[in-house]
Amino acid sequence: MQSIIVHGGAGQIPPETHESHRRGCANAAVLGWQMLNDGGSALDAVEAAVRSLEDDPAFNAGHGAALTIDGEVELDAGIMSGATLKAGAVGALSGFANPISIARRLLEKSDHDLLVADGAASFALAQGFEPVSPASLITERQRTLFETLRTSAGPGDTVGALALDADDNIAAALSTGGYRFKWRGRVGDSPIPGAGLYAQNGVGAVACTGVGEHIMRTGLALRAMFWLEAGKPAPDAATAAIEQFQRLLPGGQAGLIIMDAQGGVGWAHSTPYLSYAYRTSADSNVAGAVSGA
Ligand code: GLY
Repeated sequence: MQSIIVHGGAGQIPPETHESHRRGCANAAVLGWQMLNDGGSALDAVEAAVRSLEDDPAFNAGHGAALTIDGEVELDAGIMSGATLKAGAVGALSGFANPISIARRLLEKSDHDLLVADGAASFALAQGFEPVSPASLITERQRTLFETLRTSAGPGDTVGALALDADDNIAAALSTGGYRFKWRGRVGDSPIPGAGLYAQNGVGAVACTGVGEHIMRTGLALRAMFWLEAGKPAPDAATAAIEQFQRLLPGGQAGLIIMDAQGGVGWAHSTPYLSYAYRTSADSNVAGAVSGA
């Protein structure tokens, strides 16, 4: 059994961007699926899928990320192996286009699980990652949002992926520009195991999206894992976790994708929309969609 599911963020996804969300999510799912079919690991698949979403300017990650209060890009990303429970994550990182690959390197080459800001950048340089001009990651769309929404901070969504490979290893990955108009140095849920993401072989994996502060306050990823551990299949675990989130934090804004140990997938959200796509051994149709539309 192999399986991949990706998301392109939860929130107020404007209707005119639904098609680019659907297409970008479907492309990422196809890429991750090909990686699994070519013998790649679950970690390879989630990294490849998230890289494709980071490179797609339709999404708030990598190229196209939301801007801070200073009009700059600061990126968070995390990746977790369900086989070892080791994570690799970076927070408030500037000047690199694909933070998910730096997070993967940290997972594999360091005893640390999370590095931030200058420390994350020096690790990336030491590992041979090429820096890019910070301005090259700023798109016209995000510059316009920054100018027009100057007084209205808001969630800027996240991208994520979960995969199960032929060896039954499961992995999770997330990447984001974070909250629009965030304070410099703010880090959200995406690089935090148990908050934004989690993966554990034999149980499943979760990747969240929405307002990082809400997700961290409720430990949403781990709570969703507990529903899988209690025996719920992925779609029911997703619904139960978001219902629990809404009871704990009425008005909270979050969404998630989830995968059970059998590769079944689910998603749920308290926000108006969540974009996603998936492919599994049981379902060969790559379904890219905007839930709530
Ligand atoms: N969920 C992404 C963030 O709040 O940073």
